Amino acid sequence: MREDDYVVILRDVWKIYRSREMVVEALRGISLDIRRGEIILVHGPSGSGKTTLLKIIAGLERPDKGSVIVDGYELTMLDEEGLALIRNTIVGYIPQDYGLIEEFSVWDNVEMPLLIAGTPREKRESAVKEILEYVGIYGRARALVNKLSGGERQRVAIARALVNTPSVLLADEPTANLDWENTRIIMDLFKRIREDFNTAIIMVSHDPRIIDYADKLIFLHEGRIKEYAEKKRSSV
Ligand SMILES: Nc1ncnc2c1ncn2[C@@H]1O[C@H](COP(=O)(O)OP(=O)(O)OP(=O)(O)O)[C@@H](O)[C@H]1O
Ligand SMILES: [Mg+2]
Repeated sequence: MREDDYVVILRDVWKIYRSREMVVEALRGISLDIRRGEIILVHGPSGSGKTTLLKIIAGLERPDKGSVIVDGYELTMLDEEGLALIRNTIVGYIPQDYGLIEEFSVWDNVEMPLLIAGTPREKRESAVKEILEYVGIYGRARALVNKLSGGERQRVAIARALVNTPSVLLADEPTANLDWENTRIIMDLFKRIREDFNTAIIMVSHDPRIIDYADKLIFLHEGRIKEYAEKKRSSV
């Protein structure tokens, strides 16, 4: 295994939220290595630091201590501009509420990261079309997001996160609001993304039904990794 096969490397990462009333140690010394193409499932009780961990890898939060290397970039060394570039090109982050703009069309939501990146129009159009076809929602391209079902929204959020071909896809509770049929559609899509693009996929979930889709399970408890289980490459 070559060193650069690790797309995410965390070393002794601490995140402390401070307010006037209290101090919360959300992450307490997390170390982690994730390879390209791996599917990781992070679980653990409410408040154990799962979302914080995703946000740190996404460059949305800065750790108080430790090292966060994503696709070779040490995020703690980057300024805001550098972090914004990482967020728009190296990682794709899907928040639990999907983070879509409700009054915009599917197409406009997915085109947004490319507009921000300054991608020329012709290239934007082909990239958006291609990714909407890939996630199976091109037929709804002109629909407004607020007219879509939960499963459709999740696929739009995945398309938006993928349109800049990130090395790491982060998904917070991607199936929380979905029935089993839509859950399977999303999980099969994740497997296909891993196979086609060698993207590492880190998902937070409480859903025991999707364990079989993961290569590794990480159990967080009070900001620490309590259990780390490597499974055989899934055959689902
Ligand atoms: N912006 C913030 N300011 C202050 N405290 C925060 C902030 N974000 C998270 N926390 C605290 O950090 C701890 C970890 O939060 P986090 O959201 O990472 O947990 P979680 O495992 O994702 O929980 P859940 O399963 O409920 O989503 C919690 O105690 C939470 O209250
Ligand atoms: Mg959370």
